[in-house]
Amino acid sequence: MNHSNRPRAFLCRRFTPAVEAALHERFILSINDDDSILAPARIVALAQGCEVLFVSATESVTAEVIAALAPTLRIVATLSVGHDHIDLAAAREAGVQVLHTPDVLSDACAEIALMLLLNACRRGFEADRLVRSGAWQGWAPTQLLGVGLVGKRLGIFGMGRIGRAIAHRAQAFGLAIHYHNRSRLEPALEAGATYHPTLEAMLAHSDILMIAAPGAPALKGVFNAQRLGRLPRGAVVVNISRGDLVDDEALIAALQSGQVRGAGLDVFANEPRVHPGYRDLDNVFLSPHIGSATHETRDAMGWLLIDGIAALQSGRAPDNLLR
Ligand code: DGY
Repeated sequence: MNHSNRPRAFLCRRFTPAVEAALHERFILSINDDDSILAPARIVALAQGCEVLFVSATESVTAEVIAALAPTLRIVATLSVGHDHIDLAAAREAGVQVLHTPDVLSDACAEIALMLLLNACRRGFEADRLVRSGAWQGWAPTQLLGVGLVGKRLGIFGMGRIGRAIAHRAQAFGLAIHYHNRSRLEPALEAGATYHPTLEAMLAHSDILMIAAPGAPALKGVFNAQRLGRLPRGAVVVNISRGDLVDDEALIAALQSGQVRGAGLDVFANEPRVHPGYRDLDNVFLSPHIGSATHETRDAMGWLLIDGIAALQSGRAPDNLLR
């Protein structure tokens, strides 16, 4: 690219060094150097005049942000597969194209899903804390007994790319896969999993519930007391999707009553705030939204955005363009 006509871009968060170096080559780049989470008004103030706005799931790209930047803004590129933080209708109306990062993070997210699942089933938090505390008295026949996976049923809510990557790994642990999705998958993609046309039916068949559907306003609070009550008593709940799919009060009550034996949560409503009720419970394994946090994946997510922008600049519609 001719450096004299590089487009102006604003980077709301720090990306990996390799990706930032590539962005400097291609754009006149301004960066939110301290990597703080920017409120919409700050984005508007800092990104004036940019053609490309790089965000992540922590920035709300509201209709107001889009309208304020619309005179120059052409592309919003989010370093996330989720796009519930972007007002797509407003972007469409303003002629702003939106790119995201599907596929490249599915394996990393599936790994974290299994990490949470294993820790929730095998009491990872309590085990770690016992060793660190110095109170461990040695091996004991009934110490920290968890729940084994072989022969158990894993109910996956959301059988997209990430859900399928989880199912593939979970089968190797001997779990039988059940799923609920908007529509049934082709047999080749289903790979032996059992489809349930209703969420309620899947819940009744889930010793472990894996929440892997994309975040969406319509799914807010879908896992409420009534639905958690459909799970077999002593089930395990894992969430790698968005925190607001779960009614926190209901899950905390279910964890206290034993209706849910344990949970593994990587996402929370109102991040970075975490409902204090979770912090008081031993049977929850918590991680700070690190589903896609590997060096390889964060680089790949950045390259995918860069390639997508290059495609748009040459008049092509890349696969990671949201419509
Ligand atoms: C995603 O890609 O949507 C992850 O949740 C990180 O934001």
